[in-house]
Amino acid sequence: MVARNSERLASLKEEIITADNNIHYISCDVSDYDQCKATFDIAKEEFGSIDMAILNAGAGLNSILSIPHLETAQKIMGINYFGIVNFGNILFPYFKGKGKGEFIGVSSMADVRGFEGSGIYCSTKAAVSSYLESARAEMRHHGVRVMTIKPGFVDTNMTKKNKHPMPFIMDSPKAARLMYKAINSRKNSYSFPWQTHLGSYILDILPDPIYEILATMRGKFGQ
Ligand SMILES: NC(=O)c1ccc[n+]([C@@H]2O[C@H](COP(=O)([O-])OP(=O)(O)OC[C@H]3O[C@@H](n4cnc5c(N)ncnc54)[C@H](OP(=O)(O)O)[C@@H]3O)[C@@H](O)[C@H]2O)c1
Repeated sequence: MVARNSERLASLKEEIITADNNIHYISCDVSDYDQCKATFDIAKEEFGSIDMAILNAGAGLNSILSIPHLETAQKIMGINYFGIVNFGNILFPYFKGKGKGEFIGVSSMADVRGFEGSGIYCSTKAAVSSYLESARAEMRHHGVRVMTIKPGFVDTNMTKKNKHPMPFIMDSPKAARLMYKAINSRKNSYSFPWQTHLGSYILDILPDPIYEILATMRGKFGQ
């Protein structure tokens, strides 16, 4: 398990450790390439080999683009996008060398369109989804599976601060169970819940002028 806060990692380890599993945690800021490389080296040393990596770290925020936002955009891109690219840079050549491996990236259905108030988050997730899609096409020739998971709203620390409506929000244990099942079923991509997936599909195929009218209406209601 990898995250920055080692106290929380230690307490999670206590919660989930059993006689049958072997859990290690490493404190790492995924936006820092050197820390990612050190994490890979430690994990390889501890386990002998790495078969699967689940790249889930992410940061969300509401952003107003009429306020200077360069630093925030660089920071969120650093976590959401480069957090995945940093490990891709290390793990894709490693998995290619082994002729197998599984690289699971967590994106979001927020990748589908630019939503008002979420320009930074949406663009980081659009970048993540494209990167994973290209990687899937390339890495399948080397026996490596690249999977994209796109959750809808899940009740976590990330969404607790949101004031806007979050249709079909799901509790995090249920979301974790669904993702676990999808990873084991060897799907290449998985979006959930189905209602949000359907909504995002419709948004995707809507002609731009119609989407733009809807997006502007949302602003008029002050959300
Ligand atoms: N919740 C939703 O509705 C929703 C919807 C779609 C997609 N997602 C995606 O699902 C993933 C998990 O989100 P969540 O809702 O569980 O958010 P969360 O409750 O805020 O958890 C984020 C996790 O990422 C870790 N993290 C953040 N920045 C990091 C960094 N620089 N380096 C290493 N770890 C870092 C955090 O640990 P530390 O703070 O200890 O580092 C924490 O474990 C994210 O990629 C998010 O974009 C969430």
